[in-house]
Amino acid sequence: MNNNEYIRLSLELHLFFDRIMKEHSLFLEAAFLEKDAKLKQVAQEFQKSFSNILNKIVYLANGNVTNQLLASNEIVTKNTYLAESQTRKLTGGFIDVDITLNELNLKSGRVKVTNELLNEISTINKQTIPLVENLIKFKNDILNSVLSCKLYTTNYPLLISHIMNEAKMYHNLLSRVESRSPFTKNELYEQEIFWNTIMKEHAEFIRGLLDPSEHNLILTADKYADEYKKIIRNYRNNPTYLTNASLNETIKFRDFKVTGEEGILNCKIKSIIIPLLADHVVREANHFIRILENINT
Ligand SMILES: [Fe+2]
Repeated sequence: MNNNEYIRLSLELHLFFDRIMKEHSLFLEAAFLEKDAKLKQVAQEFQKSFSNILNKIVYLANGNVTNQLLASNEIVTKNTYLAESQTRKLTGGFIDVDITLNELNLKSGRVKVTNELLNEISTINKQTIPLVENLIKFKNDILNSVLSCKLYTTNYPLLISHIMNEAKMYHNLLSRVESRSPFTKNELYEQEIFWNTIMKEHAEFIRGLLDPSEHNLILTADKYADEYKKIIRNYRNNPTYLTNASLNETIKFRDFKVTGEEGILNCKIKSIIIPLLADHVVREANHFIRILENINT
């Protein structure tokens, strides 16, 4: 992997995943009870650490990222700022919305390789990898406490393992980039199965977090979960064909998520979905769409 590729991939990974990690921490924090104040505090510290890293990365990324990345809406969407403002009011949690405004102003451009930029990125990567390891451990501990009935939280156990798997994916990808080993075609297909599974689980979470009176939306979410189950089941037979199937399905599902998010932001849908979670799942679909489009070219 040359310097150019190393910088581009590092910036792309951080811009997408640091925000994902900081939001996971907020979702964890918001779902603990008052009696578990210690856990709330640990989650908040993770949120602040990832916010700090993301802040630095946004500064370094300006003029050094592709137009394709910015246009994918995986870093930030037109609704992120509003979703954050509403979430801040509803949960009382800390959210640095200035990062979002800076992200919305990011400019694309060719990577300008300098020793200074290489060093700064390498320092940030080396600082992020152990932080992600700690977050994986934190999520794993929470999951074990929930599964052994020692802890109550309003997050589903599947959601906790889901966000732990995303942290493991980030850790894996960032470690690979930092050691400058390029990805093989097979690994790209592994990523594709991973994100199809994530999409299936999103459909299941949406179904379970909607108010029981939202019959039609529940049925639609269920239909998406089934479609993704089929894709995952058939995957090994014909990966090339399934890249197109995943892409078509995920574009439709992303549009469903956007409509859902706007319904939640406008208070038109009854649910227990945190507004920022609704935006978060849209960005993950956008990220997957960009991966699929790159596999296809
Ligand atoms: Fe996530």
